[in-house]
Amino acid sequence: MGREMIQKIKKISRVKGELKLPGDKSISHRAVMLSSLANGKSKVSNLLESADIKSTIECFRKLGCSIEKLGNEYVFKGKGYYGLSQPDQKLDAGNSGTTARLISGILAMQKFSSILIGDESLSKRPMKRVAEPLRLMGAKIKLSPQETLPVEYFSSGNLKAINYELPVASAQVKSAVLLAGLHLDDKSTVIEKFQTRNHTERMLNCDISVQNDRKIITVSKDNYPVAKEYVVPSDISSAAFFMVLALIINDSDLLIKDVSLNPTRTGIIKVLRKMGGNIEIENVKTIAGEELGDIVVRSSSLINVEIEKELIPNIIDEIPILSVAGLFAEGTFKIKHAEELRHKESDRIKSLCHNYRLLGLDVNEYTDGFSISGDIKNNYVLFESFHDHRIAMAFSILSSVIFNDAEINNFDCVAISNPHFLSQLKSISE
Ligand code: S3P
Repeated sequence: MGREMIQKIKKISRVKGELKLPGDKSISHRAVMLSSLANGKSKVSNLLESADIKSTIECFRKLGCSIEKLGNEYVFKGKGYYGLSQPDQKLDAGNSGTTARLISGILAMQKFSSILIGDESLSKRPMKRVAEPLRLMGAKIKLSPQETLPVEYFSSGNLKAINYELPVASAQVKSAVLLAGLHLDDKSTVIEKFQTRNHTERMLNCDISVQNDRKIITVSKDNYPVAKEYVVPSDISSAAFFMVLALIINDSDLLIKDVSLNPTRTGIIKVLRKMGGNIEIENVKTIAGEELGDIVVRSSSLINVEIEKELIPNIIDEIPILSVAGLFAEGTFKIKHAEELRHKESDRIKSLCHNYRLLGLDVNEYTDGFSISGDIKNNYVLFESFHDHRIAMAFSILSSVIFNDAEINNFDCVAISNPHFLSQLKSISE
C-alpha cells in the first residue's frame, strides 16, 4: 500500500472542554435524498459537509435537482413524484456505501436508465443485497460480474410492491426497499428481525408494527416526502471517538453537545457504560422527530464485557473505536457475530487485527470478529488506515494516548465522515 499521506499524532495528557460535532452522516444522506425527491423547496441545517455527503449531493444534482448552500443551510429544489431526470453522465457514489445502496432504491424505479459507479473500495462492496429485493419488485438491474458496482438500472414496465424479510441486518438494504416502495401505489412491507438504524422509516413516517419479535415497516406512495425543513443532530458515530478518548485518558472531562440519541444508535453508550464508563446525558430534547442531547464523559476504569449479538447492528460503525476502549480495559476484548464488518469501507476485522498485531498484542481473528489481549510491545508504529476513515480515527485516538508521534498512513480518508477530526482533537487536548 502506498504512503500517500502520513499523519503524525501528538501524545496528549488529558482531555478538557466542549465539542460541537458535525451533522449525523446517516441522517444527512437521507435528508439530501428526501429533499431531492420532494416537490419544491426544502431546507437542511447542520448537514454534514463530508466527502460521502458530497457524493450524494452530486448524484442528485446530476438527476436534475438544484442544491445550494445559503448561509448555514442547504436549500433544495426537489423534483417531486417521478420528477427526476435522466443523468447525462454516470452517477458516482465515491466511497459511500450508503449513497450506493440507498440511491439504488430510487434509480431502480425510474422511467429512465442510469449507471452508478464508485471508488476502488466501494467497487468491491456487495450490491447483490440491494439488487435482490429490487428485482423482486420488478426492477431491471445489471451488476458487475462480481455483483458489485458499476450497476446499471433500466426502466421497467412491471414494477410491483413486495413483502420482504431482510436476510442481513442492514439499514441500507431496508432503506433501499423503502425508497423504492415510495414509488408504488400498493403497500410494500419490510420485515426486520434485528433492529437496525431507523432513520428512513422515521423520516418517511412509515407505519410500524411488531409481530413475533419482528418489526414490520409498511411503505407506499402515501409516504412520498413533502418539502420541509430538516435539522440534523450531531453524529454519535463521530462523537464515539472522543467519548472513548475521554474515558481512557486520566483526569479528563468532556462535554459533547447536541448529539443524536436515536435509540437505534446509542448502543455505544450502553456498552461503554456496561464497561464502567462514566457517561452522563443532559438536556435531552426532540427536534424534527430525532432525539438529541449533551453527553458528558469523564475518565473511568473500564472492564471488558460480553457484547450481545442483538446489539451488533446498533454499534456496527463504532466497533473500531470500541476495540480501542477494550484495549485499555481489564480483561480480553472480544467481539463476535460481526461478519458485516468485513463489508465496510475496508474489511474492518482484517484492518483492526493488522494494526493490533503491529503493537505486538495477542490477536485472534475469527470469521465474524476478533479478540485482543496481552501487552503493547512495540513503541514505534506506522498504523495503516486501509483508506478507511473509522480505522484512521480509531488508531489516531489510540496513538494520542500512548505514543508521541505515532503515524497513520493514508490518513486523509477521515474526510469521508469528519474532515475536521484533527482540529476537534486538538481543541480538547492538553
Ligand atoms: C448506514 C447503515 C450501516 C452503517 C453505515 C451507514 C446507513 O450499514 O454501517 O455506515 O446510513 O443506513 P449497513 O446497513 O449496511 O449495516
